[in-house]
Amino acid sequence: MKNGLVLFFGAFAALALSTGAVLFAAHNQLASLKQYKDPIEETLHPAPLPGLADRGRMVYQDLGCASCHTQQVRREGVGGDIVRQWGVRQSVARDYIREKSVHLGHLRLGPDLRNVGARPYADEEYFYKLLYAPESVAPGTNMPSYAFLFEVRPVRPGQASPHALKLTGKHAAPAGHEIVPSYRARELVAYLRSLNDAYEYPEAKPYVPATKTEGGH
Ligand code: HEC
Repeated sequence: MKNGLVLFFGAFAALALSTGAVLFAAHNQLASLKQYKDPIEETLHPAPLPGLADRGRMVYQDLGCASCHTQQVRREGVGGDIVRQWGVRQSVARDYIREKSVHLGHLRLGPDLRNVGARPYADEEYFYKLLYAPESVAPGTNMPSYAFLFEVRPVRPGQASPHALKLTGKHAAPAGHEIVPSYRARELVAYLRSLNDAYEYPEAKPYVPATKTEGGH
């Protein structure tokens, strides 16, 4: 075994080099991604998350929303995400650079949320109602209630909260009370409303395989 040392260091170098190459390639492709400057408008994309929405990202993480929702739109021809109107284009790595932790998710018990802020019906009130009483906007749904993010409190005379939910029927607040979103609920809803990847990066254009030209090989 006189070549034992050579063998050991050879194997070590081979493993170290290949691992290093994988890490370097990934870093080169993804970690060094920067905002894209629109050549005409000269605006930067994606825009940074506003502070309230960025804290909402952490609320989303804490509450485990990613266990039922994904945030990745697959391109046309791979699943029906675009047909379901979960986005106008496929998600690309650059979409996520504004977020410190990315919640891609892997299970879809509910819809993909990557562009939920762009849905025409999804205003602030819709998100609050969905979080407080999912049944009030989506009857028969499996989405759990996050009523603990709200405070049911007596209305202070002359000081009704402008954020109080306008719920009717069995979900309405008891007489003389109002349902008011907590600060965490407001952060979470700011985050949900910020989810809207519409900008067309050059890399987001669908890949069209080159067609063979006549006389080509
Ligand atoms: C147990 C699984 C589950 C969990 C956990 C869950 N959801 Fe849902 N969610 C659903 C389902 C199912 C729907 C579809 C509602 C329907 O039937 O239309 C939904 C719908 C939604 C919608 C509406 C999407 C649209 O296209 O209009 C939003 C927004 C949403 N969820 C946000 C959240 C957030 C934020 C959390 C964490 C606080 C969360 N969900 C946790 C299952 C879940």
